[in-house]
Amino acid sequence: MSTVAVVPGSFDPVTLGHLDVIERAAGLFDEVHVVVVHNPGKEAMFPIAQRVTLLEQAIAQAGLKGKLVVTSWSVGLLVDYCTDVGASVLVKGIRSQVDVAYEQPMAIVNRNLAGVETVFLLPHPANAHVSSSLVRQVAALGGDVSPYVPPAVADYLAKTELP
Ligand code: PNS
Repeated sequence: MSTVAVVPGSFDPVTLGHLDVIERAAGLFDEVHVVVVHNPGKEAMFPIAQRVTLLEQAIAQAGLKGKLVVTSWSVGLLVDYCTDVGASVLVKGIRSQVDVAYEQPMAIVNRNLAGVETVFLLPHPANAHVSSSLVRQVAALGGDVSPYVPPAVADYLAKTELP
């Protein structure tokens, strides 16, 4: 039986840390959906459609196109999306104890709601300090974010006026 997995996130914007998790998920599961999810607890910098476009470009640049479905989900529970596409697994990256504390209740609730299990992947050490919030802050203040993001995102940030 094939296993469908979902890699969800705000991806605001996608970083090299995200891409590492996505690539490894693609190696572990038969079908992987990368889903940009509206997180009501965070104010996003980029519109969801732009985040999907940047993910698609980053995935194409990484040579992963064809293995992955890239989409968005902004209405209802994430597990409703999982049920719709027959996904039994969520995949998340864990960089630190702070991430564990943030992810643990969501993993338990998602399993209780729909029997969807969460698999946690540890980051490549080079990406352990990389986050979208750090990228947004450095980019907004005019710094070089190219060590932390896929080339498509670095190009987009370089030519975009940020708030
Ligand atoms: O990249 P993020 O912001 O840490 O991703 C968190 C996200 C969007 C995956 C999480 O907030 C989420 O799953 N939101 C969907 C709403 C939902 O299903 N909530 C109830 C179970 S946690």
